[in-house]
Amino acid sequence: MNKTFITLLCAAATMTATADEITLFDFEDFNLGDAVAMRDYYSEDGTTPSKAEITSDPSGKAGKVLHVKNGSWNTLAELPLQGITAEEISEYDLITFDLYRPDSETDDYRQFRCGIGDGFLHDVENEFLHQGAKGQWVKRTYSISPVSSTSDKFYIGFNSVDMEYYLDNIRLVSSSDDYDMNNPEETLRYHADRITVPAKIGIGCAVPAWNDEVVNDNNIAAQTIYNNFNIVVGENQMKPAYLQPKKGEFSWWDADRLVNLAQRHDMEVRGHTLVWHSQTLPWVTSDGYKNDGNGGKGYNREELLQILKDHITTVMTHYKGKIREWDVVNECLDDNQSIVYSQPTKYNLRNSVWKTVIGEDYLDSAFVYAHRADPDAILYINDYGADFKGDAKSEAYYNLVKRLLKSNIPVQGVGFQCHLGLGVDASKFENNVKRYADLGVEVSLTELDITTWNAGDYEQHIRQGEDYRALLEVALKYKHIRNFVVWGVTDDKSWRSPDPLLFKSNYKPKYAFFALRNTLEEWADRAAGIEDIEVDEQLPELSPYVDVYDITGRLVKQQLEREQINSLDPGLYIIDRKKILIR
Ligand code: G3I
Repeated sequence: MNKTFITLLCAAATMTATADEITLFDFEDFNLGDAVAMRDYYSEDGTTPSKAEITSDPSGKAGKVLHVKNGSWNTLAELPLQGITAEEISEYDLITFDLYRPDSETDDYRQFRCGIGDGFLHDVENEFLHQGAKGQWVKRTYSISPVSSTSDKFYIGFNSVDMEYYLDNIRLVSSSDDYDMNNPEETLRYHADRITVPAKIGIGCAVPAWNDEVVNDNNIAAQTIYNNFNIVVGENQMKPAYLQPKKGEFSWWDADRLVNLAQRHDMEVRGHTLVWHSQTLPWVTSDGYKNDGNGGKGYNREELLQILKDHITTVMTHYKGKIREWDVVNECLDDNQSIVYSQPTKYNLRNSVWKTVIGEDYLDSAFVYAHRADPDAILYINDYGADFKGDAKSEAYYNLVKRLLKSNIPVQGVGFQCHLGLGVDASKFENNVKRYADLGVEVSLTELDITTWNAGDYEQHIRQGEDYRALLEVALKYKHIRNFVVWGVTDDKSWRSPDPLLFKSNYKPKYAFFALRNTLEEWADRAAGIEDIEVDEQLPELSPYVDVYDITGRLVKQQLEREQINSLDPGLYIIDRKKILIR
């Protein structure tokens, strides 16, 4: 097929501030075939000798790398430090490197170790973190602690007896780099706002209620919020219990302060929430289930529908034009959705007072009332525990949304709260949410937090950051995923523990913050603006071997020979930081 290559020139992407880092070894000044000494710490006679040597990159990329085969436990490669002292190394708290494990590797859990002389920089007992995908380069990061050794021998490797792996670009990183939120390029928002491909991404946070600091522009709390986020949601301010504590009496003050903050700093607002069983209208029900309001007499269906209509209409009218989207109904599903196993298209609603007195159609009415009140607002349904494909509640949620849409109910957004713990399976999340694109709705991560196992554990903060990053990469990849909202700002104010959020109590960013910022930065750089399309019969100047990404930033082909580019299917690709349209 005669294909015309149209080169879409990209604005030169400039990398911005990242953590301080120093490269210890990239192996380029070694010779191919150089043997590298190994040290067997416990001089166990392995069944097969361990071996380390400099080889070419197994993925075909240009450059030299370290290839290791472990024949016994605790045998690490020995590299000369070339004048860098242990004291200088102690200025850094992370070691990061590129790891490649061949497909033949059988086990995912391998314990990493590194050190100087006899002093271990990283040696956490029984910490066998998942080492990522095989057959491709993955980035690994571990915290390191100071050692006092005077040795100039640097040891690095995995203490697994039968492991084969490659290492490259071994770097030390200082995670406490001077994060200056007044430097836009060091904030989340700056990079999020640069992203337009495949769509705009909302990076948001929940803002604590009844808290003066978060709405005072002179306070670090508010500054952290408006410098880093482009959408906010009230953690409690806009819940029915707080907006209408007494029948017909509305209390706007705290929610108004949040909306005013957002308007001062050009941030969008999520409204959370109009109909819920918890923190609901206290004069209707004492617990969200009993119909014991109205002096104990309770309300009938018509009365409760009118109450819903009045609340929704009053609130949405008050904030009309100021709030992009509303969680119209929150957590309407019951936790037990085993029904989907016998009846795959069904779901069970929670028996809240709304469901039991009005019936299932309280959902339909709530969305209709909301749409009439503010036709421009994006109307969401929102729930927890429905984040991963295959879980019963996830299937029930999908069934419910389809039912509402089939009934022509204006559900325009589906919220996944994502209250999670370490070890997130981002691919299960992706498989769950990507199918909503076909329903014509947008999707948001609405209340994301990821707890660790032990407070203050830096290893776990790293793993937490990689979990946050993995979810953000899913969000960035799909046009219909609109917002990535973290449920709070600092760990100490979270409803969960330990350590679920992006900032410490002193508003210093954690590893997860940097993981998200770097991901946003990389994505924005990769998808930097398209300049004029130039018809060009010749391929632009490209490297002999290129990695090919699709427009969503997904790696399509690794190390493709330049001449083979015309074997790609027609489409828009990013190759060597240039956008190339193949017809
Ligand atoms: O501020 C008052 C304080 O003055 C009072 O002394 C204290 C005594 O109870 O209560 C304080 O209010 C608490 C409020 O959080 C602020 O801290 C409420 O009791 C407490 O119930 C409320 O918890 C909120 C929770 O929803 C209620 O269900 C959490 O902050 C909030 O993060 C959480 O958020 C929910 C989402 O709205 C929906 N998805 C689940 C998520 C977690 O439950």
